[in-house]
Order: sequence, then C-alpha cells, then structure tokens
Amino acid sequence: MKKPPTITTESGRYFLTDRIREAVNFWVSPQSRGEQPPPVQKPAPPGSRIIPLPGRESWSIPPCDLQSAIAGRESRRSFTPEALSIDELSFLLWATQGVRQVLHEAAVLRTVPSAGCRHPFETYLALVRVTGLESGIYRYLPLDHSLVLVREILNLPAQLSAVTHGQSFAGQAAATFIWTVIPARTEWRYLEASYKVIALDAGHVCQNLYLACEAIGAGTCAIAAYNQTLVDGLLGVDGEEEFGIYLSPVGKVADGR
Ligand SMILES: Cc1cc2nc3c(=O)[nH]c(=O)nc-3n(C[C@H](O)[C@H](O)[C@H](O)COP(=O)(O)O)c2cc1C
Repeated sequence: MKKPPTITTESGRYFLTDRIREAVNFWVSPQSRGEQPPPVQKPAPPGSRIIPLPGRESWSIPPCDLQSAIAGRESRRSFTPEALSIDELSFLLWATQGVRQVLHEAAVLRTVPSAGCRHPFETYLALVRVTGLESGIYRYLPLDHSLVLVREILNLPAQLSAVTHGQSFAGQAAATFIWTVIPARTEWRYLEASYKVIALDAGHVCQNLYLACEAIGAGTCAIAAYNQTLVDGLLGVDGEEEFGIYLSPVGKVADGR
C-alpha cells in the first residue's frame, strides 16, 4: 500500500473551505486544454449479461407524499427477510442516479445534482434478495437504465458485514448500494478543486436513496466506515482510477408503508 499523505486539522479544515479555487490554475485543466472528457458511464465489458430495468412508465410504485417521506426518514439498521421487487430496485436506481436528459456526449442531467454536471459516481449493487436476480454484484448503467452483472457471489451477506468492519446490518440487507467514484470525471474540469465537491455530490445521491426507500416501505443507512481494500476487491475496481466511496444497505422494514 502507498504511504498515506498526512492530513492535519489544518489541511482538513482547508479542504472544507473553498480557498482551493484561488490556488488552482483552471486554464491547464484537461477541459481547458481541449481534451475529451472521460465517458459519463463506465462501459459494460463486451459479452457481459445486461438486464434491462422497467422504466418509470411501467413500474408499479405507489405515489408518496414528499412531506411524509422527509418526516419519516431515518437511518434503518434492521430489515425484514422480504425481497425487493425489480420495480422497486429500478425506482431506487432512478431516484439516485437516473438520467433526466442527455444534453450531449459529455453532459447528462440526472435526478440528483452534481458540481459542473460531472456525475463522478458508478453505482454497484450487492444483491441478495431481489426477485428474479441471482445473488451477486451488479452495476447500474444509467444511460441504458439497465444492470450489468459483474459476478455472481453466494456468500454476500458475510462479505458485506466484513467489508464494513463487522456492521452486521449490512449482511441483512436485500440490496446494498455501493458507490464508487471515478475522480477523473470531475478533475477534467476542476483539477484539485474536485475533491470537496465529489464528497458533496455523494451526499445528494444517498439522501435521495433514503427518501425513495421511505416511499416503498424500505429503509437504508449510509455507511462511510468501510475497509477500502476489501470494498474495492469485492467490486473488482483498481482502487486508483476508481474506488469505493460510500455504501448504503437497503431492505424492507417492519414499520414501513
Ligand atoms: C456520511 C455518513 C456516514 C455514516 N456512516 C455510518 C456508518 O458507517 N454506520 C452507521 O451505522 N451509520 C452511519 N451513518 C448514519 C448516521 O449514524 C445517522 O445518520 C445519524 O446517527 C443520525 O440518524 P438518522 O439518520 O436516523 O437521522 C452515516 C451517516 C452519514 C451521513
């Protein structure tokens, strides 16, 4: 493992300010130099299994009052053994990273905001109980509103608990959302000013997951305490150009709607 940089209280607080904008030379960014941006969606490997998801026009998700969803939102760490339906999973993916409008090749508007419309995340799913899908790791393809199977895994609950430092509720989840970041998407425009806005972007995604869960009688709990090496290994990402940044296990809850 590379020697980690030293982070002090001073450098950490500096990170939270916007002072870096005064120091970064945006004229030398890949965008300013006329370089192509990284793809907005990581391509599916050739020959991989693609699973189309039902779109908004066809899924049966009952309407949900926004005030009730906000009032009812809480971190849920206890789930029933019930499975999620494919409609419910499709709804949660749309709510967290769904595409609203393709502006052009390099800019895609989604259901969540993102600094500079860079949308640096990929959504992986550790699926244990979703009707019709084998247990395994999948990845969302927002442009196609489809899943790609990364690999089937049988002992996911134990692995989910292990990669989150023994947070056992992760092992009870029907589906765990695991977001990775591809920093180059944001760095293309913002260089070193990317990192704070990437962290801010992640919060919006997970908050939409919380609210969408309320709408379907499910619950979730954000997880930022995880083992970086184990999460990256579970997903099969390189840990440099793409790495895990946030998790959120989802399951049905006993007192749900
Ligand atoms: C960035 C972030 C990281 C979190 N990480 C964890 C975690 O690793 N494990 C956990 O049990 N809860 C985690 N939580 C959930 C918080 O503990 C929870 O939001 C807080 O206690 C307030 O409870 P509420 O969400 O029900 O209002 C996290 C929440 C956020 C926003």
